[in-house]
Amino acid sequence: MLVLGIETSCDETGIALYHGEQGLLTHTLYSQIDIHTPYGGVVPELASRDHIRKVTPLIAETLEKAGISKGQLDGIAYTAGPGLVGALLVGATIGRTLGWALNIPTIGVHHLEGHILAAFLEENPPAFPFVALLVSGGHTLLIEVKGIGQYRLLGETIDDAVGEAFDKTAKLLGLGYPGGAALSLLAKKGNPERFKFPRPMLDRPGLDFSFSGLKTCALRTVEKHGLDDQTRADIARAFQDAVVETLVTKCKRALREVNLSRLVIAGGVGANYALREALQNLDAYFPRLEFCTDNGAMIAYAGYMRLLMGQQDDLAIQVYPRWPFQSH
Ligand code: KG4
Ligand code: ZN
Repeated sequence: MLVLGIETSCDETGIALYHGEQGLLTHTLYSQIDIHTPYGGVVPELASRDHIRKVTPLIAETLEKAGISKGQLDGIAYTAGPGLVGALLVGATIGRTLGWALNIPTIGVHHLEGHILAAFLEENPPAFPFVALLVSGGHTLLIEVKGIGQYRLLGETIDDAVGEAFDKTAKLLGLGYPGGAALSLLAKKGNPERFKFPRPMLDRPGLDFSFSGLKTCALRTVEKHGLDDQTRADIARAFQDAVVETLVTKCKRALREVNLSRLVIAGGVGANYALREALQNLDAYFPRLEFCTDNGAMIAYAGYMRLLMGQQDDLAIQVYPRWPFQSH
């Protein structure tokens, strides 16, 4: 089965082709970052309009790169939510319409399921069951995963998502948007001894997270010590150390609680080198860096698995800007 995947939930247009036997054939990604940077965050209407401009040329480019014609497709998968409604509608409309025109099964995929299954695109994929840590710009979740569609929420953030905390702190340090990756680079030059940020909620039982306090802590530190180059690096380091230790401790706690050893990391913050290093001696699986952040490959793969299970959507173009992540 050959599946075309379309991701347009936020500020990246991602297109990919996944083949049941041959694996990922190719994928293409167009990032809108330059469009949103002057505004310091994603502007939804600009995102939708740019997806409209890019999605069809990118589909054509992806098919051409793989030497595939539309007629060879067996299925189509698009991100149906959660995300920005206008952005989602672009991918859903093109995906659903193309599926109808080609008369092939089409399915709307949950963006977070895509992230969680991204590790299956690697050479050494995990086996079920496992605990997934999903750390993105909008979500921070610990999930017990028994199989495709068998998800149990173990813990989540009660305020900011990890990526959001990275981005807000990065902005405070003058690193632009989205600044998670830039902050983590700056942290390499930081002195780990200078500032010690709290490890939120580690002293309490449970698997929930809270990250909004860290950003406030960074703000207080800036107010007291200023923003010279070394101080910025030291704050970045203190922030990242606190986040990583909190995440690693909660992951270990979750694994103990459900009596599992395998851990799968997913989402943009999964690209963070300090987090990857800190999880080295666990039985941890990571997608390659480019599949941690949003991409079409994970949607093509998740859609392929769903279509293989015989699922498909009807002809209605449906998106779910808010879509809780449970078994579905
Ligand atoms: O999964 P993703 O591409 O989009 C969402 O679905 O949210 O995640 C984007 C988030 C942003 O907050 C970005 O700053 C963060 O992932 N991020 C990182 C790194 N690379 C991306 N955070 C920390 N370290 C990184 N290396
Ligand atoms: Zn995402």
